[in-house]
Amino acid sequence: MNDALLYLRPNVQVEPLFDYWYAWSHLIPPATAARNLTERHLKIMDSYLNAPQVHANAVKNPKLLGGPFIDYDGKRIDEIRNLRDQTKRARSHLIELSSAIGSLDEILRTHAKGFSLRPLYDMAPDLLKGYVELVYDLNNNPSFRIIEPLIYRSRYYDRSAQSLMLSVLTADHRPFLLSTPRLESESLFHLRIPFDDEAVDELFKLKSTPRCWGEIKEMLKVTRATEQLARSFFTPEPLPPYSPYQGRGARWRYFGHACILLETPDVSILFDPVLSYTYESEISRYTYQDLPDWIDYVIITHNHQDHVLFETLLQIRHKVRTFIVPPNSGGALQDPSLKLSLTNIGCKNVIELGEMERIDWKTGSIIALPFLGEHSDLNVRSKAAYLVRVGNHALLFAADSCNIEPRLYKHLHDEVGDIDAIFLGMECDGAPLSWLYGPLLTKKIERAMDESRRLAGSNFDQAIDIVRRFNSRSVYVYAMGQEPWLGYIMSLKYTEGSRPIIESNRLIQDCSMSGICAERLFGEKEIFIEDID
Ligand SMILES: [Fe+2]
Ligand SMILES: [Fe+2]
Repeated sequence: MNDALLYLRPNVQVEPLFDYWYAWSHLIPPATAARNLTERHLKIMDSYLNAPQVHANAVKNPKLLGGPFIDYDGKRIDEIRNLRDQTKRARSHLIELSSAIGSLDEILRTHAKGFSLRPLYDMAPDLLKGYVELVYDLNNNPSFRIIEPLIYRSRYYDRSAQSLMLSVLTADHRPFLLSTPRLESESLFHLRIPFDDEAVDELFKLKSTPRCWGEIKEMLKVTRATEQLARSFFTPEPLPPYSPYQGRGARWRYFGHACILLETPDVSILFDPVLSYTYESEISRYTYQDLPDWIDYVIITHNHQDHVLFETLLQIRHKVRTFIVPPNSGGALQDPSLKLSLTNIGCKNVIELGEMERIDWKTGSIIALPFLGEHSDLNVRSKAAYLVRVGNHALLFAADSCNIEPRLYKHLHDEVGDIDAIFLGMECDGAPLSWLYGPLLTKKIERAMDESRRLAGSNFDQAIDIVRRFNSRSVYVYAMGQEPWLGYIMSLKYTEGSRPIIESNRLIQDCSMSGICAERLFGEKEIFIEDID
């Protein structure tokens, strides 16, 4: 039996974890990880231990979807207590880092009044010394920047918190990632290796290149106690072979949310990779098995958990030639470097493409365009829309860009001209600032301010302005988080009365009446572009 060649089954879910919490993109950079540990994880676990039934009820209330509530039906209290206590013991250095960030903010608020910041270096918490620079903006508003490449090299980038949890997935529902830790159970196989370990690539290569059970067992450190479970993740059945695009133009396929694969005869590009696993479902979809053997460019639009998904990135990184990410603002706590995050989890060839910079290949190019809004007016620069030219055909992947300043698109039209097809998110209500960035705030924000500062994409007026400006012939509303297999990263369930649906319906109607092909994408979609010079 040990000699049979085995593949990793296509419905084996592999969740990246940070101390048992789902490792989303703010759990990699040391400073944002430390803040989320103390201000999100420990607080949610304390709250659960105080009132587990309140959490159980809240999880059932659709109005509280995505809120800070643990989804264990009020049970597993001892395990949550153990996790909290173990986290406090093992991550005391991260707890200290989080508190030092709070202290530094307080020192700046109290003492930085426009005079030299030099004396404040002495007052700064010891553990931050040498890892931060204190700065003013031109109006004497003080802040600090983190010297990110250095702090990644310190003990505060703690790879021992990272692990992978393997299990078999047979249906779409998964608990929301920001609020429920993953606890051990008999059906879960816990692989305690950091994300940059080469065994991660070896594991995912098993989807297409089989190995014998003896080798797999050694690679996954399978014990006698875990052998039966681990063996169930493997099968002698190979995946069906992938047929790449054979035409002379281009083909794009929608994989759900903002994940789109664009293939031409000489390049393959995957935007915002977020993949479903492959299992029986009424909703047809493209999955991992619909990816080419090699992907030339994986392109990330911005640093939100539904666009940077390590669960998918870890699975595909061995087949990616180059990752393209937007550069950040250089050390602001709320804007960690995507390049450093991806590099530190083991992605190779990660390059930053700044605004209006481009990459060319034989028959096309990518230009990174400015992306406004969607980040609660925080100074976050790690965001870009991408204009891809395939021959004479131009496609804009704008993700959650919010057209808060239409003049931007006038300037861009002057630069790049008309665009044939636009992909635009219209999640125009958006969560308040504190939903995502709350753990980074060291002073509570007033509720009215918080409510006014949304993570919101374009509404109808903003979207139609972009479409008209670029004289587009096709418009695809995407990144709406409506695919049921994405509930764990999105926590959004729209009805016909939800504003993003009403606004995007208006866009589709308005465009259709003007002879523009318009559609809100859901599930899967395939388009061939053949009229390319
Ligand atoms: Fe977003
Ligand atoms: Fe989004």
